[in-house]
Amino acid sequence: MNTNDESVAVSTPLLAPLPATELQSTPHVSGPSTPYACFVTGTDTEVGKTLISAAMLHALVQSGVRACGMKPVAAGAALRGGVWHNDDADALTAAGNVVMLTSLTTPYLFREPVAPHIAAELQGVAIESAPILAAFIEIAAASDAVVVEGVGGFRVPLSGSFDTAELAQQLDLPVVLVVGLRLGCINHALLTVEAIKARGLLLAGWVANELEPDMHCANETIEALLQRIPAPLLGRVPRLVQPNAIAAVNHLDFSGLPNWPSHPQTN
Ligand SMILES: Nc1ncnc2c1ncn2[C@@H]1O[C@H](COP(=O)(O)OP(=O)(O)O)[C@@H](O)[C@H]1O
Ligand SMILES: [Mg+2]
Repeated sequence: MNTNDESVAVSTPLLAPLPATELQSTPHVSGPSTPYACFVTGTDTEVGKTLISAAMLHALVQSGVRACGMKPVAAGAALRGGVWHNDDADALTAAGNVVMLTSLTTPYLFREPVAPHIAAELQGVAIESAPILAAFIEIAAASDAVVVEGVGGFRVPLSGSFDTAELAQQLDLPVVLVVGLRLGCINHALLTVEAIKARGLLLAGWVANELEPDMHCANETIEALLQRIPAPLLGRVPRLVQPNAIAAVNHLDFSGLPNWPSHPQTN
């Protein structure tokens, strides 16, 4: 595959079933309509963002609310039954309990598993914030809780002038940081914390995710992070034999997050 072609005209339609531009006509709802929402970022790609987002959705569903996941930009899709599927988007859909159009939960779905702005260029698409914000508003109006998973780390370019940090800022959501425990993660985590703070966003909590079975000095690494990250540790997820939402949620406590629904809504 040639990822060198930067001169592709931005004219062909999106891969998603509905063009994202249709979303711009979504009627606005007045004020924040969802009591719980967050943006899940990570120290890198493949650090456990999807696993933790799915665990969060599972916990929300268990607490009796309508919860929906959103993966606004996904790169890497396979055609099954005539429909393009992305693993992250599917995992979030499976963990939530609100059925929304894929064109809303993932307004930008690309075929190639490469950096999103490159995947977009390959399909002649320009990623913009407006369709994502409109989709978020629509999802929030139909749900009690929305979990938005970022792409890769916190500052992944989405176009020449837009990145995932700016997306989090425009959504104006509290951020949950997933730290994939491996050598180098302290630096990655602290740089990410700095970038979140620099944008005026609330770092609501972080998760220590043990990607490796026997990381050398894992306890000391977590201790170093605890001393330096100015937000609560939501849990330490061990290397799981079956890495799924149900297994992960046993190691997590989300109850301290802003607007977390602590009791089933009975009134
Ligand atoms: N604690 C864990 N134990 C075992 N496997 C894990 C754990 N966390 C993540 N994984 C696996 O690592 C891979 C990357 O996780 P994922 O949640 O998809 O990361 P991201 O969304 O950050 O790219 C997946 O195959 C996932 O199942
Ligand atoms: Mg993911």
